[in-house]
Amino acid sequence: MLFKQQALLRQKLFVLGSLAIGSLLYLVARVGSLDRLQPLCPIDGRFGPRSQDEIPLRALQFKRGLLHEFRKGNATKEQIRLHNLVQQLPKAIIIGVRKGGTRALLEMLNLHPAVVKASQEIHFFDNDENYAKGIEWYRKKMPFSYPHQITIEKSPAYFITEEVPERIYKMNSSIKLLIIVREPTTRAISDYTQVLEGKERKNKTYYKFEKLAIDPNTCEVNTKYKAVRTSIYTKHLERWLKYFPIEQFHIVDGDRLITEPLTELQLVEKFLNLPPRISQYNLYFNATRGFYCLRFNIVFNKCLAGSKGRIHPEVDTSVITKLRKFFHPFNQKFYQITGRTFNWP
Ligand code: A3P
Repeated sequence: MLFKQQALLRQKLFVLGSLAIGSLLYLVARVGSLDRLQPLCPIDGRFGPRSQDEIPLRALQFKRGLLHEFRKGNATKEQIRLHNLVQQLPKAIIIGVRKGGTRALLEMLNLHPAVVKASQEIHFFDNDENYAKGIEWYRKKMPFSYPHQITIEKSPAYFITEEVPERIYKMNSSIKLLIIVREPTTRAISDYTQVLEGKERKNKTYYKFEKLAIDPNTCEVNTKYKAVRTSIYTKHLERWLKYFPIEQFHIVDGDRLITEPLTELQLVEKFLNLPPRISQYNLYFNATRGFYCLRFNIVFNKCLAGSKGRIHPEVDTSVITKLRKFFHPFNQKFYQITGRTFNWP
């Protein structure tokens, strides 16, 4: 009899314990996802007001739903206004470099509760047709956010397009500019790989990288080839420096963002005057992908699309050596201007 009662008690305790653990896990998951919308970390300095009134969790839940509904076209503008959601011009832009890791950088920064990303590349400043539509058109392309948050967009074509520095300067002369670079030869091959894949998808043939990168008449590096020109970072940066002081740029090491993302992200947080909120918890290595992936909370995580991290074709070593020799003096100048040295050959 006593034994039966003890067993019953144990059973009850087990059920109660399971319920408690279940509720705790649910709460952690909810709070984790709400974290992104909470004013946990007001931003210092010129990014706006330091603090905002605390928003109760239930209101946040509602706001989150509202934001989603609005995107689907189901909520009224009046509701958005009442809840203080705004479409803000970016306070920072990832201007390039194409294939440097721009998507990974944007997605990883978006882990920060005070950052809201523009998911699509807007191509406002590099595309004349878009630019002619005016700044309000650009602002309307931005995601909804709370006033204390900052919006970041990325369009890697900005870095290499002649007209862009002046146009961005006219919008906001104190904007923060992020440039993510990779070892120039690897970046050029990555650039080629993307174009090659596009051609293959359309069943078209394409030249070998070696043929494009080396001028067959002179046997020298072909500076007319776009993938080569884009990797001459210093040439492009010098154009930007006619409008913005070097302090307004932050250079991200794209090779290190692959192997040690947190170190790079912490430097960006500092540059953007954001309180450090991205932690190792938010980044986990996925052996199948061979890259770090993103963890927002215990229920939501994601890796970048398969188009990021393509296998590069094998390139003749003599061509690689020639390219590295070609980029060397430009790299030295780039280190000198930016004050950031890389271990590029
Ligand atoms: P590869 O495809 O050559 O490997 P971008 O977003 O500017 O187009 O850059 C693409 C590059 O981002 C990829 O180039 C990949 O190496 C790099 N990258 C950096 N971090 C990554 C991550 N966590 N997941 C996938 N790709 C990442």
